[in-house]
Amino acid sequence: MAAHTAASTELPTATTASGDSAGEPRAPFGPAAALSCRECGTRFPLGPVFACLECFGPLEVAYDLPTGDPEGLRRRIEAGPASIWRYAPLLPVPADVAEQPNLNPGWTRLVKADRLARELGITGGLHVKDDSGNPTHSFKDRVVAIALEAARTFGMTTLSCSSTGNLAGAVGAAAARAGLKSCVFIPHDLEAGKVVMAAVYGGDLVAIEGSYDDVNRFCSELIGDPIGEDWGFVNVNLRPYYGEGSKTLAYEIAEQLGWRLPDNLVIPIASGSQLTKIDKGLRELIALGLVEEKPYKIFGAQAEGCSPVSAAFKAGHDVVRPVKPDTIAKSLAIGNPADGPYVLDIARRTGGAVEDVNDEQVVEAIKLLARTEGIFAETAGGVTIGVLKKLIETGQLDPAGETVVLNTGDGLKTLDAVAATSGPTATIRPTLAAFREAGLA
Ligand SMILES: Cc1ncc(COP(=O)(O)O)c(C=O)c1O
Ligand SMILES: [Zn+2]
Repeated sequence: MAAHTAASTELPTATTASGDSAGEPRAPFGPAAALSCRECGTRFPLGPVFACLECFGPLEVAYDLPTGDPEGLRRRIEAGPASIWRYAPLLPVPADVAEQPNLNPGWTRLVKADRLARELGITGGLHVKDDSGNPTHSFKDRVVAIALEAARTFGMTTLSCSSTGNLAGAVGAAAARAGLKSCVFIPHDLEAGKVVMAAVYGGDLVAIEGSYDDVNRFCSELIGDPIGEDWGFVNVNLRPYYGEGSKTLAYEIAEQLGWRLPDNLVIPIASGSQLTKIDKGLRELIALGLVEEKPYKIFGAQAEGCSPVSAAFKAGHDVVRPVKPDTIAKSLAIGNPADGPYVLDIARRTGGAVEDVNDEQVVEAIKLLARTEGIFAETAGGVTIGVLKKLIETGQLDPAGETVVLNTGDGLKTLDAVAATSGPTATIRPTLAAFREAGLA
């Protein structure tokens, strides 16, 4: 298995070659100390490596985090920029990262959703973390921004990814801004809004005749081939760095709540990376003393037409059996989710759950959020809000707890989902008489 890319593993400045946390300053990766295997714990030097050379388990970033002065750290964060870079002391990026050309994602709004809460019967408070406000209108700008820093550090020339749509747009835009080449790969049958967004930034966009899982397999082959030399696939060979971007959602939610944790979080699942990294971020906040320790429950959301993690959760299995996706929620249509087993662990450990809703419920939920809070979510947001509703109806989520639900993408990218049932109330001649006749006055 080709865990290394052909790209140079030489770092421009000193890193801990031993992966030992007692090393020298690690300028390009901030507080990051090493890559560590999620399965066997073996540590590796920071490099463009994504699988453990001992057991093939996934690698993630391990840190020497700045413990000891939570007040000072909190003040430093609060004085930082209104973007994910306020959390640079907790991320694998250099301290001056905000000065590099990038899209400066993050610090999106946390909306107190009282009207939606009333409709759903939530009494403990409900907030929507609305990540449609990012530069390319999905949470993917967060993960790409971190991966871009790694790509720059490793001297990669082309930014790439396998994508269900949103990531392709985020990579195209970030590469354009950074002056890198980009080449992104998507399944051939994505929504028009996502295809146009991925193409408009001027990089190469390749539609593959197959599902996302086929696209991902193809990208893994490309990495092992000389063609892929010096290519940074943000969600494959740069995946350990990419994943860390999702932690910023946990940090922002806690900070925007006044440095405290909610009782429940409802998070959509495609590969499951976002959910697992939000959990990692929450645990870091507690370990750093930035928030008080308290129990929180994490709930995962899938579309019924692609619900391998939900199926495993309900059956009490530890193994996630791959499926062939068939749902309007194309951004979540990953039939073989890499982080699926970790999602199961987190849902069970925290006392949460993984649930799914059908396409009709997704559309209803998109309209419910729009009608109650003025937020137009893409289908992934519809899945998440729909699952929140179902979790309450089935008694799996306590409505007396404080809940944060994620909207990870913008409804303008998936107009088709609601186009058939959303149009003019009336079409009339431009006269008062016609308006009266329409019965709207
Ligand atoms: C809008 C949106 N939400 C959520 C996700 C889930 O991301 P993950 O693969 O980290 O589970 C995706 C993935 O593409 C997405 O596009
Ligand atoms: Zn391992």
